[in-house]
Amino acid sequence: MLAGKTVVVGVTGGIAAYKAVEVVSRLRQQGAEVYVIMTRSAARLVAPITFRTLSNNPVVTELFEEPKNWNVEHIALAERADLFLIVPATANIIGKVANGIADDFLSTTIMATVAPVLFAPAMNFHMYENPIFQINKRRLEGLGYHFLEPEYGRLASGAVGRGRLPEPEAIVAEAMRFLLPAGTAAWKGRRVLVTAGPTREYFDPVRFISNPSSGKMGYEVAEAARRRGAEVRLVSGPTSLPAPTGVSVFATETAQEMYERVMENLNWAEVVVKAAAVADYRPVHFSPEKVKKTEGNLVVELERTPDILQEVGRQKGGRLLVGFAAETGEPLEKARLKLERKNLDLIVANDVTQPGVGFGAETNQVKILFRDGRIVELPLLSKREVAERILDAVQGLWEPGDK
Ligand code: PMT
Repeated sequence: MLAGKTVVVGVTGGIAAYKAVEVVSRLRQQGAEVYVIMTRSAARLVAPITFRTLSNNPVVTELFEEPKNWNVEHIALAERADLFLIVPATANIIGKVANGIADDFLSTTIMATVAPVLFAPAMNFHMYENPIFQINKRRLEGLGYHFLEPEYGRLASGAVGRGRLPEPEAIVAEAMRFLLPAGTAAWKGRRVLVTAGPTREYFDPVRFISNPSSGKMGYEVAEAARRRGAEVRLVSGPTSLPAPTGVSVFATETAQEMYERVMENLNWAEVVVKAAAVADYRPVHFSPEKVKKTEGNLVVELERTPDILQEVGRQKGGRLLVGFAAETGEPLEKARLKLERKNLDLIVANDVTQPGVGFGAETNQVKILFRDGRIVELPLLSKREVAERILDAVQGLWEPGDK
């Protein structure tokens, strides 16, 4: 079930490190590619060769060690992971990550990844209840890191309390929740139209008005829908992103072209997600020759472009329509107005003045607004994770048994 998925398993120096052996073995049995990173103390509890044999990959323990036959450096590994699973996670690694300390291979790689990170803590119950640990844990949860709660039971010290690592099968089941998109059955065969990227509005052959959209957010939505089994068409403005596998891409440049491609595909679509950053204005006049530089100012008169989303809202029929709102400053009120005015089912609001949010970033922090007034506020997440959460929200709007 996990063929094509890459899991980086971080093993830290808790006595439960031996259970990570079984976790790695089970992940491999499911077809996942597994890389193991051990802290120095973990390597004193379980021999790295055990993990090397089971994962069929070299095991890293030191930040500056000679890579031997390993061609994956920590940044590449961080980028390649679909999931980071830290098992067992000691108070030490959780404290380090919560406080931005990156002083070994594992903590550095966790810092460098935008994949979901799942900690499976295991420790003495007094340590687990320690307010410092709890503050660190809550801090990480607030930042979008995930935790598998330890179990109550007999601990290595002989004491009984909360702090025991769950059994390997429970850990793998939790990991699968991140690796296998939810709702695969609900999306199979659904027809999803996505827009992504900027538009360019030219006033001569080499000059245009545009914005810094990279297309990443919309491409992640398209890929997420595809992973769930939907048929996906992507109307894209100019980006440097490769076409997602299995998705039909319609390349466009201007708002007018994007409008035309969206309208041509509208009858086909059941769900429309509009993540594109469409220019609201375009030059009234286009000079077929490059405009000559002169001493004085150049005044370019602008006119409105077609509002694609508004038009789709007008012709919505039974489709589900998701818009985005890129706002500067508190986005809720403006997003709610767009939701109403453009006849949307959902709007995804991002405050693009925040670091790591919106244009060009690898991550995004959004609020999803529903027509009935509900708001889902998400922490800063990778755009891939945001895309999954948007699809979860769409899925929640389908009646049970619908399709
Ligand atoms: O591409 P990335 O680098 O990953 O960045 C992601 C993003 C910031 C572009 C994305 O998260 C986002 O916010 N997209 C919408 C940007 C935008 O144009 O917002 P807006 O508030 O101006 O427009 C509201 C909605 O109307 C959007 O769904 C937009 O696609 C649509 N619109 C706007 C103008 C227009 N003429 N036609 C439209 O359809």
